[in-house]
Amino acid sequence: MAELAVNVDHIATIREARGGIEPDPVAGAVIAELAGAVGIVCHLREDRRHINDRDLRLLREVVKTKLDLEMAATPEIIRIALDTLPDLVTIVPERREELTTEGGLDVAARVEFYADLVEQMHEKDIEVSFFIEPDHRQIDAALQAGADIVELHTGHYANARTPHEVRYELEKLATAASYAHTNGLRVTAGHGLNYINVTPIVRIPQIVEVSIGHAIIARAVFVGLDRAVREMCALVRHGTTS
Ligand code: PXP
Repeated sequence: MAELAVNVDHIATIREARGGIEPDPVAGAVIAELAGAVGIVCHLREDRRHINDRDLRLLREVVKTKLDLEMAATPEIIRIALDTLPDLVTIVPERREELTTEGGLDVAARVEFYADLVEQMHEKDIEVSFFIEPDHRQIDAALQAGADIVELHTGHYANARTPHEVRYELEKLATAASYAHTNGLRVTAGHGLNYINVTPIVRIPQIVEVSIGHAIIARAVFVGLDRAVREMCALVRHGTTS
């Protein structure tokens, strides 16, 4: 059975559309937890396009389940993470011009750098997850760097258009999940998951958690955040929205 972590970035995106104070992602995090989320995720980007420093500070105070800070491994954000003490950091690649995180992190290209980062986080009891493509080479690198978790990038699966492509991407995810789990990593997944495509992902037995943002906030516009989170929790846990 998998669990749901809710990404609240897009609540902040709506707030930033008017540069005002609402809707507040901190209030959203409280509602998501009450509706059954086992974790709250936010991405403090270099350009602060949605989540800002105040949000992160308050989320750290308010979140009772588990706060997962998605972050690029830049000196500024590393310092903020070490000061804020989230329960977990998920290291992602970040490019200024992208709409959202576009690909997995190339851990293999900088294993020593990431090993040092893991050590710094572990000294403060912060767990480390790497957001990677479902690829053995990246899993080996994450292991070498001392990761606790790998979050498998489901973007290619979510964008697959033909049944053949969908099967191919699912198979890659299942193989990678099994390999990572066998080698002692916890395995999660995320990006582009929604109420239609999440079920085959949570049927992969090694995937213990999914991280979902956009689809939940999009549904919340019509049905409210409480119901949107409850329905996704039920889907992730039991394969049905009710
Ligand atoms: N996981 C990671 C590492 C991400 O960067 C994102 C996007 O912020 C998500 C999960 C959630 O993606 P989505 O908003 O498409 O559900």
